[in-house]
Amino acid sequence: MEKLFLTGGARLEGTVVSSGSKNSTLAVMAGAILAEGETILRNVPAIGDVQTMMDMLRALGVKCEATSPGVVHIDATEIEATEAPYELVKRMRASFCVLGPVLARKGYARVAMPGGCDIGARPIEFHVRGVQALGAYVNMEHGFVEAECSGLKGGEVYLNFPSAGATQHVMTTACLAEGTTVIHNAAMEPEIVELAAMLTKMGACIEGAGTTTVRVHGVKHLHGTDFNLVSDRMEAGTFAVAAAITQGDVRIENIRPDHVEPFVLKLREIGAVVDVDDHTMRVRSNARPVATDIMTMPHPGFPTDLQQLFAALLSVADGSSVVVENVYERRFKYVNELVRMGAEIKQDGRTAMIGGVPKLTGAQVTASDLRGGAALICAALCAEGETEISGLEHIERGYENITDKLKSLGAEMYALGEDRERENICV
Ligand code: EPZ
Repeated sequence: MEKLFLTGGARLEGTVVSSGSKNSTLAVMAGAILAEGETILRNVPAIGDVQTMMDMLRALGVKCEATSPGVVHIDATEIEATEAPYELVKRMRASFCVLGPVLARKGYARVAMPGGCDIGARPIEFHVRGVQALGAYVNMEHGFVEAECSGLKGGEVYLNFPSAGATQHVMTTACLAEGTTVIHNAAMEPEIVELAAMLTKMGACIEGAGTTTVRVHGVKHLHGTDFNLVSDRMEAGTFAVAAAITQGDVRIENIRPDHVEPFVLKLREIGAVVDVDDHTMRVRSNARPVATDIMTMPHPGFPTDLQQLFAALLSVADGSSVVVENVYERRFKYVNELVRMGAEIKQDGRTAMIGGVPKLTGAQVTASDLRGGAALICAALCAEGETEISGLEHIERGYENITDKLKSLGAEMYALGEDRERENICV
């Protein structure tokens, strides 16, 4: 898809099923490198980022095959290469996290440094210091991180910021280090708990995943496993906002109540009626959103990945709202696009002041990152007239079949341009 044309005004109604979690899938795919055997992943979303990680594993000589809808087989018995190419790492930052597992298996890894992106510089010093704490010698030059060791040893790692990726990266790498590793000020995102669950099934010994202190007792070998991916809490949040912004009534199935709680409470503050049971979240609204304030924080605070979506919702609220982005230094690029649709938003550094307007109007807008693109779709769903959204490649990276799902709820939209050629991991 190259452009999306969306005519706003329809109240979204019906049921969607949340797909597998993008962020959890990417972490466990890197973790599967540790296994001297085959790992089967189920409920894998058919999205661009998963495709990129599959390409990355193959570049390392790891067998990786999509066998049936949502099922990916990874066999890392042999790892034939130890270099992760720049063109893959620049496409997706998360692919940098193959460094530690390859180092743990082969004693050497050379991975291109990920660039920054539209939401911030996104440096990697926590990752580098983490593998150094495990005894690796690290050299950074020519845009690559080169790491080598003659056997990893457990160590103490303190994260200046509870980085999700660095927590996952160090926790994974430490599984094959001799002795115990302690990660202090660890991130507590659900994806870390899921990754620890899979690594444990592979034979790892991990304590405290999901708390601020994670302990890993290293083992000599890990074996493959069969692991079912948890659903995507950010996709669920995206559809919840789509329901609220169109004053609709949408059920989102296959959710985890504990994973959605941080934003469900905020949705209720904004006036939506949200019912959550073991597997389903129902979001209803029949009035204009109520203004409120949002401060993004590491889990279990309000998730940064829904900051843009909620800003779109608050742009049509009755009253003024303040949104503070505490995780990334520039995650407001979408603001100018919302302003083109009639939103009244003033952004200053990490803060956006939103003066709610009664309605938005359709316009030509461009997505520059995954969640900002989803925010533009939500804005277009309630805007008067037609919105033309470009930059869909950002959206396709992280949302499985988002246009089909929205159309099934009554959204009036169509896409121009061919679906980009992509290995069909959902046969
Ligand atoms: C993960 O990114 C997610 N991506 C992000 O989701 C999410 O926004 C983020 O965690 C926070 O929850 C995946 O899981 C693939 P961080 P990650 O390390 O691990 C700084 C989406 O939309 N930092 O927790 O890269 C960093 O710059 C994506 O699905 C350093 O300074 O995020 C950021 O400001 C976007 N040095 C903050 O920490 C480091 O070495 C949090 O980043 C590492 C991070």
